[in-house]
Amino acid sequence: MTGVTFRLATVADADILAEIYNHYVRTSTVTFDLDPWSTEDMAHKIETVVALGMPFIVSEIGGDLVGYAYLSTFREKAAYDTTMENTLYLRDDARGAGIGRSLLEELLRLGAIAGVREVIAVIANTPDAVPSIRLHEKAGFERVGEMDRVGRKFDEWIGVVMMQKSLVPD
Ligand SMILES: CC(C)(COP(=O)(O)OP(=O)(O)OC[C@H]1O[C@@H](n2cnc3c(N)ncnc32)[C@H](O)[C@@H]1OP(=O)(O)O)[C@@H](O)C(=O)NCCC(=O)NCCS
Repeated sequence: MTGVTFRLATVADADILAEIYNHYVRTSTVTFDLDPWSTEDMAHKIETVVALGMPFIVSEIGGDLVGYAYLSTFREKAAYDTTMENTLYLRDDARGAGIGRSLLEELLRLGAIAGVREVIAVIANTPDAVPSIRLHEKAGFERVGEMDRVGRKFDEWIGVVMMQKSLVPD
């Protein structure tokens, strides 16, 4: 995808990032959040990721912010410290043009530099999330597990697919 640039997020991006995310909170099962995030919620997430020493990046086209991705704590206990969970969201009208693929590649590149060894994607096992599952497969993630009926949204029980990619050579 030409014309897409990446940079680290700052708290000044929080309002636009919350707007991108809240579209999916309101309309989709790709996120298990039921309530929209405030700008402050997103700013807090950016600060938490940065404090962890992990990448929180945004993608832009012609100065317009069209997506974001970050690595964050997978599980709190200390022995999990080299394993991170990844998150990425594109503005709805920016999907399907290769931005997700390049955003994820850049996130994983920066994750490796930050010392991450394993990346886990926890993805809803619903039709809404098929693009995400396919994207992760294409990026080399392997399906390592499934959990059924762990969430409830839009009056349906929803399961998750767990996918994993190692950032270190065997
Ligand atoms: C998932 C998401 C990040 C993918 O980004 P994208 O820019 O739309 O995807 P790309 O155009 O880079 O496509 C990369 C691969 O993803 C898969 N993919 C993308 N859109 C797809 C679709 N509608 N159906 C099936 N597979 C799809 C394909 O395998 C594609 O590779 P290909 O073009 O070689 O077949 C984006 O659609 C999105 O933000 N979705 C909503 C939020 C979300 O689901 N986030 C992930 C939460 S875990």
